[in-house]
Amino acid sequence: MEQLWLPPAMERRLRGAAYSENTIGLSKAKVLMFSDMVLKIQPEAPWADREAAILEWLAGRIPAPELIEYEKCDGMSYLLMTRIYGRMACDDVLLEQPELLVARLAEALHMLWNVDISSCPVIRDMDTELAEARYRVENGMVEIERTEPETFGAGGFQSPEELLVWLENNKPPYDPVLSHGDFCLPNIFFTEEGIGGLIDLGDSGVGDRWRDIALCHRSLRHNVDGTFGRIRRGVNPDALFDALGVTPDKEKLRWYLLLDELF
Ligand SMILES: Nc1ncnc2c1ncn2[C@@H]1O[C@H](COP(=O)(O)OP(=O)(O)O)[C@@H](O)[C@H]1O
Ligand SMILES: [Mg+2]
Repeated sequence: MEQLWLPPAMERRLRGAAYSENTIGLSKAKVLMFSDMVLKIQPEAPWADREAAILEWLAGRIPAPELIEYEKCDGMSYLLMTRIYGRMACDDVLLEQPELLVARLAEALHMLWNVDISSCPVIRDMDTELAEARYRVENGMVEIERTEPETFGAGGFQSPEELLVWLENNKPPYDPVLSHGDFCLPNIFFTEEGIGGLIDLGDSGVGDRWRDIALCHRSLRHNVDGTFGRIRRGVNPDALFDALGVTPDKEKLRWYLLLDELF
């Protein structure tokens, strides 16, 4: 380890091991990839604590990284976990086989919905998320430049405050399941056989079924419409609804995508 400070116990465990830095995530976390482990370093935060807690609870329930060690030191948190193998769902190989990709994504969502949530230690229901959204709005933490162009301004909401009040006044009915919380393609891994594992679980917990459907649908769209640079024809994000066996709930899709604009 050069130029990277680690808490002493982790330093002892990782000293000399080769790693590369992963820059795919959008958060401010630093992610170091070792041959069979991954170290996620980020400023101390409730979601970092929640990720460690839910990884422990998920062990044996769904394929996800195993927690090896979680430490906090001088304002930073260090989460060491096992490495998940396979291809990210946004890998070219999968985007070039859209029918298979959509079927696999639906399989991953069904797997989450089949988990018994009665002992889940984390709740991510609408009121929990709205309270966090309110804190972010009141403290000027919403990054408008990272939102969809139509959300704010002409034809959209005037401000994050106005959007928050609309969300608070238009809460859709609640259908709780185990929700990943950031069900976008780089957080879902597939192997040749099926689901390799789900990662980036800091917002996971008991939440509404449509929270993940909305983000999965948007992520599929953004991976083919040029948002991330590449336009791909032949991928229809709406195929996800058929694969899931659900009728699109336009109201919930909109509510969850708008909520995500405040995070
Ligand atoms: N346990 C893991 N196994 C394999 N890859 C991982 C693991 N954790 C993180 N990664 C890789 O690092 C990227 C970013 O990590 P992630 O936890 O998703 O952070 P962010 O919050 O920045 O998106 C992931 O998209 C994935 O490519
Ligand atoms: Mg991620």
